[in-house]
Amino acid sequence: MTKQGKTYLKLIAVLSLCLIFIAVVFTFIYGTEEEDFRVLIRESAKIAAILFAISFCISSVHYFVDSNCTKRIRSFRPHLGLSFMVFHTFHLCSLIYLQMHLHPVFDLAKGVSLFAGSVAYIFMYLMALTTFPSFKKKLSINTWKYLHLIGGYWIWFIFFNSYFKNVMNKERYYFLFGLFSFVLVIRVGKTLHMRIFA
Ligand code: HEM
Repeated sequence: MTKQGKTYLKLIAVLSLCLIFIAVVFTFIYGTEEEDFRVLIRESAKIAAILFAISFCISSVHYFVDSNCTKRIRSFRPHLGLSFMVFHTFHLCSLIYLQMHLHPVFDLAKGVSLFAGSVAYIFMYLMALTTFPSFKKKLSINTWKYLHLIGGYWIWFIFFNSYFKNVMNKERYYFLFGLFSFVLVIRVGKTLHMRIFA
């Protein structure tokens, strides 16, 4: 495994241990009732959403801003993407616990949500795997680019849709809805600007 690959594995291990520790402390303090786990599901999704949004839009932000700061954040895109994967794996594990012990979320989920969510997880793990240099070099540049483009927009749409529904139905999460709207605008903006001016 490459030096870079080992760094990524260390990041995944440290973040996973931190999340397990937080979950144990959380359930120790608040208990293991259904609503407690729903808080873990929502909060893990929130952190995953922000990590994903930054990694999915930073190269477009850097295209327009072109500062040392955006350049630095862009160089951490693989780390941000893998951190998103860890937090969203926690979302999935909390859902599986909920399904097995408290509430049949998968049984009650609409078929289209289950399909969209499952495909999103398949994309997420394929994108995480191909972040490791030893797997990335097995794919052609174009295949890698299309996997991360289609997978990225598929995951973006589920987050955007989740927070759009929250804004419309529960009048909450305006910041997260705004963030995911900004991600789309800046990405499309970069594509159009490159087509027209580059
Ligand atoms: C098969 C897969 C999935 C199932 C069954 C599922 C189920 C759920 C459930 C039951 C909640 C509600 C928790 C509550 O408010 O009580 C939830 C929240 C959420 N899920 Fe998932 N989910 C899945 C996959 C995903 C994926 C792939 C994404 C994003 C790419 C995602 C994003 C979110 C977000 C953003 C929330 C929080 C919404 C809020 O705070 O109100 N979910 N999910």
